Amino acid sequence: MNTPLTILGIAGRLRQASLNRAALRAAQDLVPEGVTLEIFDLAGIPPFNSDEEARPPERVTQFKQRIRAADAILFVTPEYNYSIPGVLKNAIDWASRPYGDNSWEGKPVALMGASAGAQGTSRAQYHLRQVFVFLNMYPLNKPEVMISNAAQRFDAEGNLTDEATKAHIQKLLAALAAWAKHHEAGRQATAANAGTT
Ligand SMILES: Cc1cc2nc3c(=O)[nH]c(=O)nc-3n(C[C@H](O)[C@H](O)[C@H](O)COP(=O)(O)O)c2cc1C
Repeated sequence: MNTPLTILGIAGRLRQASLNRAALRAAQDLVPEGVTLEIFDLAGIPPFNSDEEARPPERVTQFKQRIRAADAILFVTPEYNYSIPGVLKNAIDWASRPYGDNSWEGKPVALMGASAGAQGTSRAQYHLRQVFVFLNMYPLNKPEVMISNAAQRFDAEGNLTDEATKAHIQKLLAALAAWAKHHEAGRQATAANAGTT
C-alpha cells in the first residue's frame, strides 16, 4: 500500500525561462504513485537580515510552514561560480533561523541541477551537500542527477524532451520517496521505544 507523501520542490533560480525551473516542473509529472511534488517559488524572499529574524517577512513564514509540512525536500540548483546561487543560499539561511527554529531539521532531501555546460552543476551540488550537515538534513546519496548540456534536452517552451533525463529524474524521485518512508518508519520506531507514541 502506498502512503501519500508530499515533496516540496525548490528551484534556486528566479529567471522565468530557467532550465532548472523547467526541470522541476518536469519532475512533477515523474513522481511515483501516491506522491505529490509541490513547488515553492523563491520570488519575494528578501535578503536575509538578522534584525528581522524574530519577526520575519510573511513570505519567509510561508516558506518555513511549507517546508515543515513536507515529507521531503527536492532542491533543483543551478551552479553559480562553481557554487550555490545566492538566491538559494539566502532562502536556506532564512528558513534555518532563528537559532533553534530550523525548519530543515531532520528532513529527507534530494538534489538535482541543470547547466548549459558539461559539469551539470556537480560543484554546486557538493557545496549544497555540505550545507545539509549543519541543517541536519538527511540527503539521498544516489542517484545523482546532474543535467549537463541542458539546453539540448528541453524544447523552446521549456518542456523536458530527453527521455534518458526523464528516466533518471524518475529514479531519483522513487528513491527519495522510499528514503522518506524509511526515515519516517525509523522516526516512529524511535518514538515508540521512547514511549512517546
Ligand atoms: C552569475 C552566474 C554564474 C554562473 N556560473 C556557472 C558555473 O560556475 N558553472 C556552470 O556550469 N554554469 C554557470 N552559470 C551558467 C548557468 O548555470 C546556466 O545559465 C544554466 O543554463 C543554468 O541556468 P538556468 O536554470 O537559468 O537555465 C552561471 C550563470 C550566472 C548568471
